[in-house]
Amino acid sequence: MARKLCEIVFLVLLCGASVSKCLSVYGRREVLDKDSRYVLGWTVDAEEKAVTFSVEVETRGWVGLGLSPHGGMPEADIVIGWVDGNGNAFLTDRFATENGVPAVDTTSQDWVLLSGWENGTHTSLSFKRPFDTCDEQDRVIEDGTSRVIFAWNDADPAANVGPAFHEANRGVKSVLLLDKDPEETPLPDNVLMYEILVPKVHVPAEDTTYWCQSFRLPIVGRKYHVVKWEQVVQPGHESLVHHVIAYFCPPGTNESLVGMGEHCYGRRSSTGMGEHCNSRILAAFAVGGGPFTLPDGTGLPLGEDGAPTLIMLEMHYDNPELRTDYYDSSGVRIYYTTDLRQHDVGVLETGLENDGGPHMMVPPGAATFTSRFYCYPDCLKKKMAAQSVDSITVIGGILHSHLAGVAIRARHFRGGVELPPIAEDETYDFNFQQTRYLHHPVEIRKGDYIVTECDYKTRKRPRVTIGGLPTYREMCLAFLIYYPRLDLTQCVSMPTYAATLRFASVETVREGYYGMVESPSELAGKSSVWIMDNMNWTDGLVRQFQDHALRANHYFFCEDQQNQVPIGQWPRGEERAPIPMTRPFQPKTSACQVYTSGGETAARRVCPILTLVLITFPMVLMSLTAL
Ligand SMILES: *[C@@H]1O[C@H](CO)[C@@H](O)[C@H](O)[C@H]1NC(C)=O
Ligand SMILES: *[C@@H]1O[C@H](CO)[C@@H](O)[C@H](O)[C@H]1NC(C)=O
Ligand SMILES: *[C@@H]1O[C@H](CO)[C@@H](O)[C@H](O)[C@H]1NC(C)=O
Repeated sequence: MARKLCEIVFLVLLCGASVSKCLSVYGRREVLDKDSRYVLGWTVDAEEKAVTFSVEVETRGWVGLGLSPHGGMPEADIVIGWVDGNGNAFLTDRFATENGVPAVDTTSQDWVLLSGWENGTHTSLSFKRPFDTCDEQDRVIEDGTSRVIFAWNDADPAANVGPAFHEANRGVKSVLLLDKDPEETPLPDNVLMYEILVPKVHVPAEDTTYWCQSFRLPIVGRKYHVVKWEQVVQPGHESLVHHVIAYFCPPGTNESLVGMGEHCYGRRSSTGMGEHCNSRILAAFAVGGGPFTLPDGTGLPLGEDGAPTLIMLEMHYDNPELRTDYYDSSGVRIYYTTDLRQHDVGVLETGLENDGGPHMMVPPGAATFTSRFYCYPDCLKKKMAAQSVDSITVIGGILHSHLAGVAIRARHFRGGVELPPIAEDETYDFNFQQTRYLHHPVEIRKGDYIVTECDYKTRKRPRVTIGGLPTYREMCLAFLIYYPRLDLTQCVSMPTYAATLRFASVETVREGYYGMVESPSELAGKSSVWIMDNMNWTDGLVRQFQDHALRANHYFFCEDQQNQVPIGQWPRGEERAPIPMTRPFQPKTSACQVYTSGGETAARRVCPILTLVLITFPMVLMSLTAL
């Protein structure tokens, strides 16, 4: 108790002394299973580079928590702990090589048990781990999506026997472990709330449904600021609503779409609304994903002239039991104010321009294949100069690719030297769409440029994967949330057909929608996709094509709100050479020092001094007032 108090005092004083230290400690809580039996809480200490986890599970047996590369047990870093009948807590650091009882980590035990208790119904354990333990049987905790796996069994492990099988008490959840708690900024009183919910959609008895529904925004003809958005999931539909994405339909969208709801893509879409509206993301939510709150002094403007007036929600429903009795009214909630804040926030789309044609191609069978897209410096420079702005500040973003995407980075360059990435996710999970906060706002200056890069994995795909809107095609986008807003919504590029197809000995190609080959004569009339599908892809050829594609010329677009690139038309941009990646960013190599609980030792050492100060300070004050 005394120590706890001391730590609180320590923290309070530390916060007074150094805001940065205080901001570097943050945490969250998430329910991991659908019956709310397993709750994970965690606190990140960004300065100490360590995470303290606390699990509270409705069981009196063992509980397991792990960090997994792909969501399964193989190669997962796992801890299993329990509290015995005498109240003694145990924790074992383990590593799984397969599905089965994970063996105890033989190199070192790096997850440190802090405390544990159980009552009549629940077991709780608290333990700590540095981001990087330097142990090959532990996974590094880093930015991006962590696949957290969890399990429990209602019996403690018997002496000399491993933990018993968890049966169905297990699961996986994607979590942005190192992201800051989005709830930290309280909303002012003058904020209004508006819910955009789909109208009791009868969810088809199909495994996966993409349902698109459009809405008119609440206020038009008067500017207002959106300051927060969050998802609304109808109670009981937590596992049905897989994710929700809110898009702005382009200005000038046919009003007859208002209120329309239908299957998003393909032949089952009668209006083509899904493809028409799905290019500019306002917000993305995975189940369990938290709200996004803009910082004080900033708001996302809507309602003004030329601003989008229609929003489309894309609901991704998962109905593996093919139930026919789901009527869903989930959606999003936006908080807005007409008390305009100082800065307008903008959303800048960088990455692959998607005109619906197969400009980007990823060969089949690739273990990993990297594509790059460019936001050239003169675009940002021109737009900043037009508004007499020297820099913009990025505060958050959404990284987006489809099912083959495994990593996304928004890389940042200044004067030919690469700075730390604006945002990156080396463990991207399509099924976990979420707006991310940046750890620190990133300043982009006049003359800087952004390269958006995606890695894809197409091991199991028999055919070439092409750029496009459906989930089985690919995208590569970083939506950067920034202020002050520029008259710029898209700074994107796409490779030219000619540059790409030169790899397959194509001489000339019609740069139209599908990229039809003109010469040589034996290939004339073939589509670009046919050409690429008929290559005999080997690992070596995939590597060669990646190198080729990274050197290919791009069409480049620098677009404002009035001048969006139209979907499904042939938007000829300006042809440019790719920017060479001359001085890549060198992340600091991991120090990999042996972990010591430095923070606590420091707290204990400093505390007596602080206590002394605390005791003497009022005395000094009293003697001062006495004077
Ligand atoms: C055990 O603790 C949990 C979590 O604090 C609480 O919800 C539960 O009611 C407690 N059970 C009993 C039997 O006290
Ligand atoms: C809007 O859509 C309706 C129904 O599809 C169509 O009849 C109408 O011509 C469209 N209007 C414009 C301006 O395209
Ligand atoms: C691929 O292999 C087949 C069979 O060996 C051959 O007929 C064809 O010409 C090859 N295609 C290319 C593009 O090399």
